[in-house]
Amino acid sequence: MSDAAKLDLGTQTVELPIIEGSEGEKAIDISALRSQTGFITIDPGYGNTGSCTSGITFLNGEVGILKYRGVPIEVLAERSNFLEVSYLLAHGGLPKKAELEHFSNGIKKHSHIPSEILDMVKCFPKTAHPMGVMSAITSALSGFNDQLLTSNVTDEQKEESMSILLGQLPVIAAAFYRHSQSKEFIPPREDLDYVSNFLNMLFGDDGYVVDPEVARALDILLILHGDHEQNCSASTVRMVGSSKANIFATISAGIDALWGPLHGGANQAVLEMLAAIQEDGGDYKKFLAKAKDKEDPFKLMGFGHRVYKNFDPRAKIIKSACDTILNKLGVKDPILDIAKGLEEQALVDKYFVDRKLYPNVDFYSGIIYKALGIPVNMFTVMFILGRIPGWFSQWKELIEDPKMRICRPRQIYTGNTTLNYSDIGER
Ligand code: ACO
Repeated sequence: MSDAAKLDLGTQTVELPIIEGSEGEKAIDISALRSQTGFITIDPGYGNTGSCTSGITFLNGEVGILKYRGVPIEVLAERSNFLEVSYLLAHGGLPKKAELEHFSNGIKKHSHIPSEILDMVKCFPKTAHPMGVMSAITSALSGFNDQLLTSNVTDEQKEESMSILLGQLPVIAAAFYRHSQSKEFIPPREDLDYVSNFLNMLFGDDGYVVDPEVARALDILLILHGDHEQNCSASTVRMVGSSKANIFATISAGIDALWGPLHGGANQAVLEMLAAIQEDGGDYKKFLAKAKDKEDPFKLMGFGHRVYKNFDPRAKIIKSACDTILNKLGVKDPILDIAKGLEEQALVDKYFVDRKLYPNVDFYSGIIYKALGIPVNMFTVMFILGRIPGWFSQWKELIEDPKMRICRPRQIYTGNTTLNYSDIGER
């Protein structure tokens, strides 16, 4: 293949460089197009726009491949753990034992939140949505970490930021959960592993012992949510980070992007949808018909993906983990049967087949969270906790790129060319 594409504009032909990724993905570099021709490209929703080159996550949606730093997600889900995956994403390689210990100790060291942050958590109404709390308090962490607010961040400062985010966001999430239940805050415990500590902060009243099966199930879920290349929240992180906003403001913006039901908020929406189907008598075919009706705004939540047009490999792992954990916990949840029936029906339905709509990561994850005792409005918070290393790694890669520029898309203006201004009383 030639290393340049030719674009014929009628009066002018320009050559545009072709770049190729390590997995053979190809792109036409149009960064000089406007200065050479006056043209820009238009791609609403960025379905065909590569916003960066990246060495973090590879996914091939046509065949359902997902790898972090070259390691398949299936291998990580089976053999790794969330902290090792976080290290891998952020540092680009697998840690040696001592490196992982150092990383884990740094997180433990930074996992105690200032008392003012705890007070802040308690100022929210108990009914507040935890995603709003997480976003606000993540941004507020900037006020407690002046040393990290520089725009020329050193390697040590990056490590410290990562430790604070991985250490404190679970504490804040658990603190708000306890507050919302009118229960006392449970401080982090350094003798527990990362996930067991989180479970203990949520549920560790007298006599509570973390079930290792539950901790493992949650660990796998966090691994599966670790990163997903340039999705809506990662792109938001890169957009905000490109202005050299501080790490806490940047991650807070990612949290806000994640909250939407078309993105991470789908895990809450799926459970609500399944509960609504159950309440309605369990007739999922009726809901499938609604999803296909173009006059009806209802969508099948947890189905479809911008990039996966075959299957979402994360959904495959979660579906089997869901069966395993529910069996082990002895939970018989009728909404699992509704979810399976809905999936089975959708996978043979022409509407879904033609549009290549498959279950995504959110379709079964909520059923596991529910079985673990996590309330529905906390589901997207669980997504945050898994995605911290991904957002952090995207931000780190961005700020380390010597060619980094502020992200600033262009537009084609379609508004009035002239509108006469008249005084307010004369309009
Ligand atoms: N239910 C019914 N129809 C759907 C669904 C769905 N869940 N998803 C897509 N479609 C239809 C669209 O209406 C469209 O139909 P048309 O061609 O007749 O107009 C066609 O499939 C293509 O869909 P788009 O909207 O173009 O797909 P897009 O890539 O823009 O959106 C998205 C992807 C947002 C994930 C979408 O599939 C959706 O809304 N799904 C439900 C929400 C969800 O589960 N989100 C989580 C995604 S994973 C994540 O972010 C972690």
